[in-house]
Amino acid sequence: MSKQQAALIQSLAAQAYVDPEIYDTEQELIFASTWQYACHVEKLARPGDYVVCELAKESIIVIREDHNRINAFYNVCPHRASRLLEAEGCKKRFACPYHAWTFNTRGELVSAPNAQNVPGFRSSNYTLRACQLEIMHGLVFINLDDDARPLKDLAPELLVDLGSYAPRLPELTFVHRTEALLDCNWKVAIENYSECYHCELIHKELTTGVLDMDSYRIRVFAQSQKHLSGSQSGESRVYEFDDLDATDFVAWWLWPNFAFQSYPGGRVHCWNWKPLDINRTHLTVDWFFPSPKLADWERELIRHHASTTFSEDSAVMAQVQQGLASRAYESGPLMIDAEKSQYSEHAVAAIQQLWRDAMGDAYE
Ligand code: FES
Ligand SMILES: [Fe+2]
Repeated sequence: MSKQQAALIQSLAAQAYVDPEIYDTEQELIFASTWQYACHVEKLARPGDYVVCELAKESIIVIREDHNRINAFYNVCPHRASRLLEAEGCKKRFACPYHAWTFNTRGELVSAPNAQNVPGFRSSNYTLRACQLEIMHGLVFINLDDDARPLKDLAPELLVDLGSYAPRLPELTFVHRTEALLDCNWKVAIENYSECYHCELIHKELTTGVLDMDSYRIRVFAQSQKHLSGSQSGESRVYEFDDLDATDFVAWWLWPNFAFQSYPGGRVHCWNWKPLDINRTHLTVDWFFPSPKLADWERELIRHHASTTFSEDSAVMAQVQQGLASRAYESGPLMIDAEKSQYSEHAVAAIQQLWRDAMGDAYE
């Protein structure tokens, strides 16, 4: 092997994407100990508004207590373990469907049938177990790790930038969800998101009608990455927007499975890749706009994104997953150039290193 070849950084071994044991370990070592996107605060506007989130084989209730506070609890009844709530809704008190123990939005047990006749029973011993919750510019995140460091320490650059690129994010309103069941491991999808080596080949319209590819760069931070690109001007644009609005494309990825993106024109959307299995991932892209009444160009932006970049990536990622399962493939080189240009895969290397660090001995 020449010196040049020896210096190449290798991608993760195929096993990392196809081995069900790796998947189980990831749930514990990664998804149960990182900040996971739950929803926009708009979903929790009134006291009692709640959403139920599935993560790391757990079910979590995220519920507004009052104007100042949103709580997160394990969706497990402390009596005999029934699930308490599902989906979303609004309840200032909620009763377990099994024996009607009833809880308030602070997770306190407020009534239990026949409790007054049970010697030694104390309601205060049966508060729902809480988990960590943080709100970052109107986006609610939860973390099952009681000792998790706050987001402002883990991704300080992201926090500052969200405030400057999307200062009105907390007041924006949900207008549309683009979603797909991806036939690939979640890391295939994240890695695809984190390089534009494939963009000119796979995304013709994105690279000729939306972005100015010569300016596309990805900057790597400790637990986050920033994509920044100028946009196409004038007649080259596939959708129109006012030049008074933000013209840059900016995207922020947060370890391990969330991204926030602003398209030219200043329209923002949040990406969340939820692993369902070793080779299946649920991807949601939620669009938040200033008004629920969309202008024609805004409608066209959503349609265009779904029918081009989004679906083009979905097809490619399924092909990658099939190749990863082949006996002919073990690992390939990451194509990292010195300038960290628009073609460079340096951000993929950084994500894979975060993954190796999180997995430790579970991945040799
Ligand atoms: S399991 Fe919830 S009240 Fe019995
Ligand atoms: Fe892509």
